[in-house]
Amino acid sequence: MQSNLAESHVLEERAAAIAHEVKNPLTMVGLNLDILEASDKRLGADRNYAMIRKELRKISDLMMDFIYLSSSGQNDMEEVTISSLLNEIRNDLSISMPNIFVKIAHPNDSLVLHANENSLRKLFNNIIKNATEAMEYSGEIRINTLVQDDYITIQVRDSGPGICPSVRERLFKEPFTTKPLGSGLGLSICKKIAEEHSGHFTLDNSENGGCVATVTLKRFPSRMC
Ligand SMILES: Nc1ncnc2c1ncn2[C@@H]1O[C@H](COP(=O)(O)OP(=O)(O)OP(=O)(O)O)[C@@H](O)[C@H]1O
Ligand SMILES: [Mg+2]
Repeated sequence: MQSNLAESHVLEERAAAIAHEVKNPLTMVGLNLDILEASDKRLGADRNYAMIRKELRKISDLMMDFIYLSSSGQNDMEEVTISSLLNEIRNDLSISMPNIFVKIAHPNDSLVLHANENSLRKLFNNIIKNATEAMEYSGEIRINTLVQDDYITIQVRDSGPGICPSVRERLFKEPFTTKPLGSGLGLSICKKIAEEHSGHFTLDNSENGGCVATVTLKRFPSRMC
């Protein structure tokens, strides 16, 4: 058991090191792409650089996920107004996915918590990405916020098909995906971010069909007080 743990730790470190190694050549490819594009523009050539950039971004995001999951997660905390963050995510989504309708209910528009804003953005973007994929890019997402004592709970419900028990059972235990191009890292990242904020994260079927992702965060985690 002990040696299995040590082995998996070594593998994790190796995976993160490889991810770091892949980031450098990726950056070089990106820079050279800029040079090529500029020279093409001068020559009047019209090539689809946007598509190459999009694919490069996917590899880069995947590498960043690996690096993030193996990091100690010591991020700076700041004051985050949760309604502003969720509104910003909704507005971005309404541009990229016009067939997804997001309804947000806030008990208090000026509710603040101490958190790392970029981490929370990553967390909610992962939840929303999963929801939009499950709904095949058309449907409704409802976000509710609840405050109880020192904790804030944000629930994100989608109108997708929900998760079947055999999939539900495998989540959070290992990287697991049902998507042809998925990494299965998204939910582990959500869990890690919630835990870094002295909270937790769950994903279940909702009573009205679809899934409900529940994020509970301590409003003022102890290392901030
Ligand atoms: N809202 C949801 N509705 C239905 N199934 C979901 C939902 N969210 C997650 N899942 C299931 O959980 C699996 C794991 O999700 P996770 O975000 O960890 O990885 P992924 O989405 O498959 O890959 P990636 O996040 O790299 O794109 C998904 O493949 C899917 O089967
Ligand atoms: Mg995902």
